[in-house]
Parts: sequence; C-alpha cells; structure tokens
Amino acid sequence: MSTSPPTTSLSRLAAVLLLLVNLILSVSAQSATATASSTPAGPTISPGEGKYQYVGCYNETTHIEAGGSVRALQGKPEANDEMTPARCFAFCGGTQFAGLEYGRECWCAPHLSSLSEKLEDGECDIGCAGENGTICGGRLRLTLYNQTGTGNGAAGMRGSASSLLAGAAGLGIVIAWFL
Ligand SMILES: *[C@@H]1O[C@H](CO)[C@@H](O)[C@H](O)[C@H]1NC(C)=O
Ligand SMILES: *[C@@H]1O[C@H](CO)[C@@H](O)[C@H](O)[C@H]1NC(C)=O
Ligand SMILES: *[C@@H]1O[C@H](CO)[C@@H](O)[C@H](O)[C@H]1NC(C)=O
Repeated sequence: MSTSPPTTSLSRLAAVLLLLVNLILSVSAQSATATASSTPAGPTISPGEGKYQYVGCYNETTHIEAGGSVRALQGKPEANDEMTPARCFAFCGGTQFAGLEYGRECWCAPHLSSLSEKLEDGECDIGCAGENGTICGGRLRLTLYNQTGTGNGAAGMRGSASSLLAGAAGLGIVIAWFL
C-alpha cells in the first residue's frame, strides 16, 4: 500500500482487529468450500436445479401391501441409461415432484404418496446411469425433488452471505487504514 500507515494507535488496533476478522472469515469460507467440493468415495446428492430442490430420500411404496402397488410418485416415468437429475427435471417440467430411482428411472407426479417415508440420505445410494458422480435414488428409494417455489438453494444463499461478510470486513480494513 502506498498510503501512510495509521497514525493513531486506536485506528491501528481497529485495522488489526478487522484484519483478524477477515482472516477468520476467509479461512472458514475456504474450509466450507473445501468440505463441499472435496470428493467423497461415492456419488453425491445434487441439491437440485431451478425450481426443483432436493427434499430427501424417500421410500418407494410398491413393495408394501398397504401401498396397493401405488407408486410414491404415481405418474409417468422415463427410464434410460443417460439418466441424470437435470434430464429428469426437464422431463418432469412443471410437475410438483421429480424423483430419481434405481439409477435410471425418473418419476414425475403432482403429489407424493402419504405412505412414502423420508429416510436417511444415505439410503439413496445408486449413482446415475448417465452421471456417475451423482446419486439417482436407490433400490425402492427415490431421490426426491420438490418445486418449493424459491428457485434458490440454501447452500447458495449461505455462500453469498459469507462472501458478503468477508467483503464487508475487507472494506472495513481499507477504511480503518485511512483513518
Ligand atoms: C420405508 O423404509 C423403512 C426402512 O427400510 C421401512 O421400515 C418402512 O417400512 C418403509 N416404509 C414404507 C412406506 O415403505
Ligand atoms: C460408473 O462407475 C462404475 C464404477 O466405477 C463403472 O463401472 C461404470 O461404468 C461407470 N458408469 C458411467 C456411466 O460412467
Ligand atoms: C413440497 O413443496 C411444497 C411447497 O411448494 C410444500 O408445501 C410441501 O410440503 C413440500 N413437500 C415435500 C415432501 O417436501
């Protein structure tokens, strides 16, 4: 920096404090990014795209008698070896729910069967036929996406909030330096 250093000890203290805050923020932002982007052993869950947001791993309901062979998502399916969440969302279009099952199936329906239960995320463990790094349900398990109406993932909002904070702290340092 070509400007003269802070003259008062108070502003120097403020600059040091803000530098510390900025350092902590950028380190925590980096570790958060590292956690999110580090590639685990298996495929990962897509958070969704556009209006479709991931809401959980849900049971298929055909295998239980009470289900009366009714699907968790009773609607038109598509199945092929190019299946990915993005393809399924495009196929389901405006339908409320889109669910991926068994790696290659895409189910669309306006409602989710009340018999279908939300399970642990890990219960959906089959990679997409058309995108190995991404989860597309499991055996009698649906990776379920819902049109929540927000069109923005919580992760994205967290990300922009922390970069906003880091930016504010950075601006604070510059201001304190000139005081
Ligand atoms: C959902 O899966 C769990 C765990 O396998 C099982 O206990 C439960 O009965 C299933 N529910 C339905 C509706 O299939
Ligand atoms: C996905 O990975 C498995 C195991 O590594 C492999 O057998 C399969 O061919 C891969 N599929 C695609 C579509 O890349
Ligand atoms: C799906 O989203 C709607 C809001 O658009 C909400 O009312 C409903 O509870 C959600 N259902 C699930 C299973 O996430």
